[in-house]
Amino acid sequence: MTSAVTAAPPATRLQAKGITKRFPGVTALDHVDLHVAAGEVLAVVGENGAGKSTLMKILAGVQSPDVGQLMVDGQPVEFRSVDDALDAGIALIHQELNLSDNLDVAANIFLGREPNVGGWIRRKELEEQSREHLRRVGLNVSPRTLVRDLPIGQQQLVEIAKALSINARVLIMDEPTSSLSQRETESLMQVIAQLRQESVSILYISHRLGEIQRIADRVTVLRDGKNAGELERSEITHDAMVCRMVGRDVSRFYQRHPHTPGEVALQVKDVTTTAWPGESNSLAVKRGEIVGLAGLVGAGRSELLNAIFGVDPILSGTIQVDGQPLSAGDVRESIRSGLALVPEDRKQQGLILEMTIRENVSLPSLTSDAVAGCLVNRSRERSLCDSFRESLGIRMAGREQLAGLLSGGNQQKVVLAKWLALKPRVLLLDEPTRGIDIGAKEEIYRLIDQLAGEGVAILFASSEMEEIIGLSDRVLVMREGKITGELPRDKVSETAVMDLATA
Ligand SMILES: Nc1ncnc2c1ncn2[C@@H]1O[C@H](COP(=O)(O)OP(=O)(O)OP(=O)(O)O)[C@@H](O)[C@H]1O
Ligand SMILES: [Mg+2]
Repeated sequence: MTSAVTAAPPATRLQAKGITKRFPGVTALDHVDLHVAAGEVLAVVGENGAGKSTLMKILAGVQSPDVGQLMVDGQPVEFRSVDDALDAGIALIHQELNLSDNLDVAANIFLGREPNVGGWIRRKELEEQSREHLRRVGLNVSPRTLVRDLPIGQQQLVEIAKALSINARVLIMDEPTSSLSQRETESLMQVIAQLRQESVSILYISHRLGEIQRIADRVTVLRDGKNAGELERSEITHDAMVCRMVGRDVSRFYQRHPHTPGEVALQVKDVTTTAWPGESNSLAVKRGEIVGLAGLVGAGRSELLNAIFGVDPILSGTIQVDGQPLSAGDVRESIRSGLALVPEDRKQQGLILEMTIRENVSLPSLTSDAVAGCLVNRSRERSLCDSFRESLGIRMAGREQLAGLLSGGNQQKVVLAKWLALKPRVLLLDEPTRGIDIGAKEEIYRLIDQLAGEGVAILFASSEMEEIIGLSDRVLVMREGKITGELPRDKVSETAVMDLATA
């Protein structure tokens, strides 16, 4: 295959040529090419299921391609394992982090490679070297801190420090900022700029196109497992990326209809959560109203939503749906009363990965759909699944595929479908579009708007300011476990929200 392939530009550090990867029912990658030079930041963009993570796993030796060739410094290589790729200087930071929670920072950085003498770990050396790597990523914590005690953004930086400790020359980051706060994202951007200076090559995946405009030297676009375009630095614009990703124009504006709020559907009075025992909160959401819950990461929004739904206990206070009080901490009762929660963490709370997509979608609505009270109505399950596949654009091999094999963003869509299938009267959404590509986001906004139009009361938490401003009829802002203020639609602005969100 040598003659057909065009030569890569000089100083190409890592190159993939004609990579094909098939899974049962899907061709995840179809003859994909990619190259990155020393000290270059290459962004890889594409819709959910376009093949980004699969390609990165192949570059990092996690999976092997069916067809195609990898080259490092112009030499053909074959990775049989992650260690092979690490030996070649290629490290992958996964879409879902991979640290050991119960170990401290230093142990995580050097896991399996601890400096030792005759098998005895040299703890002091371990910590000194860790400090050096932490300094490079701008993380100012003791190497003895347990990883589970760090916020997610700092854990991300520990992962990067770990990659640097093996002298990675190619660092692959798969959606590193999807759970970072604005400040953490900012420090990650600085770390990337620094690494670039040190001639590390970076492969960067994100659905946040603004970040890519800031840091990328070049963009490679994937669509349906194929190369769909390349953009040089001067060509990288939001619209140019989107147009290649989706193959059509996507409006950047929210389709939003005026809603006429009805009766109060959700009433929360003086509720105290275990996460913030010193603070109590009250709020009300009317039928047909969309209320945004804004705040910085860690402000207590998820804790409040979980407590309302009954996943977490409450210490005091009352919750009413349509005037009926709920017994606290009873999810089944919440569902029966018409509440639904689309959780933030799809893997832990939202999806049963070992079950099929069809089963997942119909799971919470099973009881209401059972024929004669006991049998599962298969044909109803199938049509339900198909209609959501269509309306949310879920990319899957088929209804019977296991949910765990879907791409990250498509898993999120299944979680959403599963709760929408219940036709809730009060819908709680926690970061509904995290990890979701731009075309599908638009679909989800349209759906939320439509549900409100049908009289559903909606309370959603989001860290994306644009989403809060674009969707909400009213915004509640939280800081340190407490709702600090309320903004009607005509008073919502980035500054107004930030003022209430920060002390
Ligand atoms: N182990 C697997 N078995 C079966 N199918 C898989 C497997 N891994 C990925 N796929 C499928 O391959 C396709 C590409 O998935 P991939 O995870 O690479 O997408 P992605 O571009 O990273 O999407 P996202 O933006 O949602 O993270 C998807 O259709 C996915 O369902
Ligand atoms: Mg992915």
